[in-house]
Amino acid sequence: MQDIFGKALLDYQNGNYSEDIITATSISEEDVLPLPYLFRDFTEMPKIEQQALQLAKGNVLDVGCGSGSHSLYLQEKGLYVKAIDISEGAIEVAKERGVLNAAVLGILEETETFDTVLLLMNGTGIFQELQQVSKYLKHLKSLLKPNGQILIDSSDIKYMYEDEDGGFWQDMNANYYGELDYFISYKGEKEVPMKWLYLDFDTLKLACETVGLKCKLVLEGEHFDYLARLS
Ligand SMILES: C[S@@+](CC[C@H](N)C(=O)[O-])C[C@H]1O[C@@H](n2cnc3c(N)ncnc32)[C@H](O)[C@@H]1O
Repeated sequence: MQDIFGKALLDYQNGNYSEDIITATSISEEDVLPLPYLFRDFTEMPKIEQQALQLAKGNVLDVGCGSGSHSLYLQEKGLYVKAIDISEGAIEVAKERGVLNAAVLGILEETETFDTVLLLMNGTGIFQELQQVSKYLKHLKSLLKPNGQILIDSSDIKYMYEDEDGGFWQDMNANYYGELDYFISYKGEKEVPMKWLYLDFDTLKLACETVGLKCKLVLEGEHFDYLARLS
């Protein structure tokens, strides 16, 4: 990983904002991810993120914290928060913004326990592919204190395969339709392609049941997105 994402966050944080991140996936054309969005405050967050923050309690782990927007909100509310990310740039920015406990760490390396584990902005993306979902869910479960909860968002991206006549063009021999290759570039530099998983609610629920987690739909967003609470 070249940490293009971290470089972009650092530029924005240090007042060098001139370009946005360009994203693309295996099933979609280039799109712009505006850097200011990664520094959003509570009022600029989608409803499902606001709801997740309102449900957060006790000591919280913010997984894939990015610039730390969710962590900062909870910290300011008086909660203990640990923010982790595999991007060194992201953690540097989160610390500069005031996140007190931020560490460069992959979720599978985390070992402390928490009352709330947050995974936001397509939290299931970190699982990468359907085949790995159980492994990640088992690990997340092991990080919960008694009565702890995991708050995670994702989207059912079936709509992306819909043609103009309302039919679906999915290749039936392909893997699960939410498994995408994700490409990002910034200021002419390309990141190593990564796998990124969008998981529909029913598939998430089924996977949760196989590892002994209860999965409840908390809120549906405006565009096939949803927030789930696992306990
Ligand atoms: C879409 S961004 C979301 C950032 C932030 N949560 C937000 O909402 O603005 C996903 C983040 O997850 C991080 N990430 C990816 N895989 C991870 C892993 N295995 N463990 C921890 N963080 C990871 C990425 O570096 C990136 O910062």
